[in-house]
Amino acid sequence: MAILVTGGAGFIGSNFVLDWLAQSDEMVINLDKLTYAGNLENLASLDGDTRHLFVHGDIGDSALVAGLLVEHQPRAVLNFAAESHVDRSIHGPEEFIKTNIVGTFQLLEAVRAYWSGLDLDRQKAFRFLHVSTDEVYGSLDKDEPAFTEQHQYEPNSPYSASKAASDHLVRAYHHTYGLPVLTTNCSNNYGPYHFPEKLIPLMIVNALAGKALPVYGDGQQIRDWLYVKDHCSAIRRVLEAGELGETYNVGGWNEKTNLEIVHTVCALLDELRPRADGQPYQQQIAYVTDRPGHDRRYAIDATKIAEDLGWKPSETFETGIRKTVQWYLNNQDWVANVLSGSYREWLEKNYSERQI
Ligand code: NAD
Ligand code: TYD
Repeated sequence: MAILVTGGAGFIGSNFVLDWLAQSDEMVINLDKLTYAGNLENLASLDGDTRHLFVHGDIGDSALVAGLLVEHQPRAVLNFAAESHVDRSIHGPEEFIKTNIVGTFQLLEAVRAYWSGLDLDRQKAFRFLHVSTDEVYGSLDKDEPAFTEQHQYEPNSPYSASKAASDHLVRAYHHTYGLPVLTTNCSNNYGPYHFPEKLIPLMIVNALAGKALPVYGDGQQIRDWLYVKDHCSAIRRVLEAGELGETYNVGGWNEKTNLEIVHTVCALLDELRPRADGQPYQQQIAYVTDRPGHDRRYAIDATKIAEDLGWKPSETFETGIRKTVQWYLNNQDWVANVLSGSYREWLEKNYSERQI
């Protein structure tokens, strides 16, 4: 038995692959294009492990995907592959359309052809699990109830619009062709192997380097945060017991303003790696020009997955963020290696235009 994971060299995908193989001997075929966000170093502990097969390629390469499906006969395909950073989607939306929409479409087509050719028992057992985001629902006002699965889609960034489109395609493949699909819409993740262009790892890395901690706008935007390994356990649970065609919201019941997040990271660093001059890391906070179209608040109502599938997160924000900061302190080599030339160019592009 095998599963095919796409995007398994990225942040969540690599955590998923590592957790999967820590709990099961079922083989993982890992298809990843290795964009700037894909990093095989995340999977270094699997070197020589025959249960993990890495394939360098694009989800939009129909011939490659068709060949992998026929050769390895997976019982499930889990689609993590995506362009995932909102700020990059504002500067350059095209890659988001190509991978998140066209790529997902091509992947669905290849999977549909494979699935149609399976015998009835294997067709019934097969699953296509699509990993999506809460950002498809748009922005909430302060007092509005959290997103349920019934909330209408109102994506506001090229990233969230491209993910929304992919969710619709997945849904349509179920309703039109009967493809056995499942979709998860999760809130902001944090944890090990998070690329330091996203809020939490960027703050840790910049703080330690003595650099500014750039807070967009007033820093009062709210996100729900979930430790990445809890997201992985939710995906495993949905794969195992989710009802076909259903979507499941996944969240940590942890709404925080961005400023609260930055203050928490600073306080943990003050404790675990105090600045040489004894001053608090908060001194490095710099308010910078806001993100265009910045969503004010995301909040997830994760009641359905709790009640129907018995899933709940095992980390609180306090335990998860401490583990995360500690992981970055213990893995400075990983950080140094991802701070490559292309990443530095992105930092220059994103932050040089913002006024402090
Ligand atoms: P990431 O950017 O860290 O990783 C994405 C991975 O996909 C990379 O390894 C990249 O090389 C690969 N990839 C990109 N284009 C590809 C293509 N055309 N073919 C094959 N591989 C390709 O992203 P992440 O944070 O790990 O997110 C994974 C998934 O989870 C995404 O679909 C994202 O929308 C979703 N999601 C992320 C979050 C979050 O907080 N990070 C929250 C909810 C949902
Ligand atoms: P991010 O990690 O990019 O995730 P997303 O946009 O998908 O929620 O950003 C999280 C929040 O942090 C978001 O409101 C934007 C904000 N932010 C900053 O204030 N400064 C930064 O340098 C970054 C990268 C994000």
